[in-house]
Amino acid sequence: MKCSICGNEAVHYVPYERLYLCKEHYAEWFEQKLVRNAKRYRMFDGSRRVAVAVSGGKDSTTLLHVLKKHEGEFGFTTVGFYIDLGIDRGTKYSEVNLEVVKRNFEEVGVEYRIVDLKGEYGFTIDDAKRRINRPVCSTCGVVKRYLMTLAAEELGADTLATAHNLDDMAQFVLSGYVYGNLEHLSRNSPVEEPERGFKVKKVKPFFLHYEYEVLHYAVLMGYQFVYDPCPYSEEFRGVSQHKLLMSMKRIEGDTPGFMLNLVSNFERNIRPMLYREISGSGQVGTCKICGRPTAPGRDICSFCSIKQKMLAVRG
Ligand code: AMP
Ligand code: FES
Ligand code: ZN
Ligand code: ZN
Repeated sequence: MKCSICGNEAVHYVPYERLYLCKEHYAEWFEQKLVRNAKRYRMFDGSRRVAVAVSGGKDSTTLLHVLKKHEGEFGFTTVGFYIDLGIDRGTKYSEVNLEVVKRNFEEVGVEYRIVDLKGEYGFTIDDAKRRINRPVCSTCGVVKRYLMTLAAEELGADTLATAHNLDDMAQFVLSGYVYGNLEHLSRNSPVEEPERGFKVKKVKPFFLHYEYEVLHYAVLMGYQFVYDPCPYSEEFRGVSQHKLLMSMKRIEGDTPGFMLNLVSNFERNIRPMLYREISGSGQVGTCKICGRPTAPGRDICSFCSIKQKMLAVRG
């Protein structure tokens, strides 16, 4: 097939726009989609320093490269960080990712920080898996969310960018409906204002990019990233989450643009209403150990509670 724009050989087809694209025009289309969405959803309004959370996978590696390339259009400086969670399980997962992420930071030429969970907080996610009776990915999620905000602050950033893609968001929206979790649904936004008393805003610039679009772009650009998923990922997804995603992909196959419409219409028409109704109604507390916000009715945040448990079992 020929590129719908220049007539050269096409390497990518966008089914929901019926567009064939050559390598050059696919790259332009992909990047402009990010720039357009970032502007439409005011992701970088007022941003001076944007910290990209880079895990070593395709999505965040691509986000680092694309944000650095387009930072001038928005007027911010890109910085980055990696959280070494100490996941091994015979795969050296965290170690391998660390090396790849460092190479990308150096290649792109940004200031960066490596957060060492074991060195700075005294435990790894592998330790937590052995010693805390809770699904390991839920512990890991708490740790990552907490340390991501902190790392962005330490880098002097006012904005934290994560690489959640459209598949992640669609899965989140659909399972929010299925399980009726309105609180989660109301917060799952591509732009989250800073927590009370803090200044880091959280953005998801790829929230309307399909996972396969990011993968194809990353491969065409020749980026170095880690293909293998976290060794705990099978445990995390669970059968029902995986089935939901597979069902959505089947509908997407019959109705191109289904997931895009699901997420963009949710964000435009439904979530703002849920947010007004639900968020702000619960009384958020303050962690008496670290001073950050806690869930309503709790005086210690989830991260400090995990840390306490880990340090207690160590001694
Ligand atoms: P996940 O929670 O694994 O779905 O990852 C969501 C986003 O969090 C990724 O797209 C990255 O931007 C970020 N992230 C995940 N793991 C790490 C890590 N170890 N270090 C830095 N950022 C991460
Ligand atoms: Fe956290 Fe897999 S990345 S458990
Ligand atoms: Zn072309
Ligand atoms: Zn705390």
